[in-house]
Amino acid sequence: MSRSLIAKYSKPVPRYTSYPTAPHFHKGIDQTVYEGWLSALPSDASASLYLHLPFCDRLCWFCGCHTKQVNRYAPVAAYLKALSVEVARIGGLLGQRDVTAVHWGGGSPSLMTPEDIVAMAKRVRNAFRVTEDAEFSVELDPNDMDEARFDAWAEAGLTRASIGVQDFDPQVQVAINRIQTFEQTQHVVAAVRARGVRSVNIDMLYGLPHQTQDGALATARAVMSMRPDRIALFGYAHVPWVKKHQNMIDEAALPDSLARYDQSVAAAEELVRGGYVDIGMDHFALPHDAMAVAANAGRLHRNFQGYTVDAHDALIGLGASAIGKLPQGYVQNVVATHEYQRRSFAGEGIVDRGVAITETDAPRGYAIERLMCDFALDFDDLRQRFGQQADPVVAVASELARCDVDGLVALSTNGIELSSTGRPFVRSIAAGFDAYLNQNSARYSKAV
Ligand SMILES: C[S@@+](CC[C@H](N)C(=O)[O-])C[C@H]1O[C@@H](n2cnc3c(N)ncnc32)[C@H](O)[C@@H]1O
Ligand code: SF4
Repeated sequence: MSRSLIAKYSKPVPRYTSYPTAPHFHKGIDQTVYEGWLSALPSDASASLYLHLPFCDRLCWFCGCHTKQVNRYAPVAAYLKALSVEVARIGGLLGQRDVTAVHWGGGSPSLMTPEDIVAMAKRVRNAFRVTEDAEFSVELDPNDMDEARFDAWAEAGLTRASIGVQDFDPQVQVAINRIQTFEQTQHVVAAVRARGVRSVNIDMLYGLPHQTQDGALATARAVMSMRPDRIALFGYAHVPWVKKHQNMIDEAALPDSLARYDQSVAAAEELVRGGYVDIGMDHFALPHDAMAVAANAGRLHRNFQGYTVDAHDALIGLGASAIGKLPQGYVQNVVATHEYQRRSFAGEGIVDRGVAITETDAPRGYAIERLMCDFALDFDDLRQRFGQQADPVVAVASELARCDVDGLVALSTNGIELSSTGRPFVRSIAAGFDAYLNQNSARYSKAV
């Protein structure tokens, strides 16, 4: 890959976990609008729940998530009470519609006490109609885990665990304030599997301070030795203007775009050599895994958690900063935990902002999602779904292929397809469909 190509296409663009993207959310979408959207869902609509726990007992300097450090459990306990109020309120509105997946993210839901893990799972099942075979997943920080917590998550019905690793190189771990041994991680994988968890995911990062290509390769090999069903390999998003604690990271120690690219390619090739299927921009899965099967069948989706196999009609976000998506649009809850709690207890609106998906947004959002998931776009599919509204999107796609001088995108029999050279630049290519790009002053992380 040439240096000039990487320089040309690694300009900052959104990660496209939504369209319109989060900087275009506005205050005009509030709780009343959201509850109207919820009530209008067809009775046979299915939903997936995302519950956010915005606390950690340590702060990793690289972290881009909505979280804050707590040294005591009292703030977590108070927050869970407020979250329970929201769970009951939204559960009442969703009524008898099926919930096919429940995901706990953060922050670190792993720091909840065993009693709270079990109690919250009961509250969720009491408030929503969670189907028998629903997926129940959680993000686990190995540093939080002990036997009682493993037992509690198992009792709560855990089916999938996502474990953060990032990088095993001790020098990198010091630079990102995340010390975590291989043995500790191995123990967590074994402990959840021993309790019947069928699917394990491990998160890795490239582009970290002091990280090298050899280090990323060594981490990829160590991760594969635990044979997780899925591996996420994310590029470190350095956005210190949003996440102040990232200022703790020495920018001089960050790899440049070319070194980042080399690390990502080396680690990805190693994972593929190790038997993993390459999925979308940053995921890998064993061939039997539902994500590999879905990707193969063109049934992969993308939402705020990244790639997913979940084909729900609605994603319900619960908790401070949580984002939801309904067919009518996106909503985000208030971010500050104290304000979230105040509003929840007072019975006030928790939604802080959002955006409606217009008739012209829908085909563009669909095109972006298919490109990110399939690296291809089918014009017939687009026209069948959106009728005449598909025309401007087909025009953008055709123009992209026609004007491409770098061999990234080509016209296929009935659409466009990214070449292997184009795939790493899928975010930049997707940006061509974004009618809102450059309409405000939002700053994004590097595309590669
Ligand atoms: C909410 S965090 C992880 C959950 C758990 N607290 C842990 O640390 O293991 C989810 C994942 O997001 C990824 N992540 C966090 N900050 C990031 C950033 N700035 N850029 C890219 N990925 C990031 C990490 O790979 C992390 O494991
Ligand atoms: S990476 Fe995980 S443990 Fe570290 S600060 Fe972020 S959410 Fe907390």
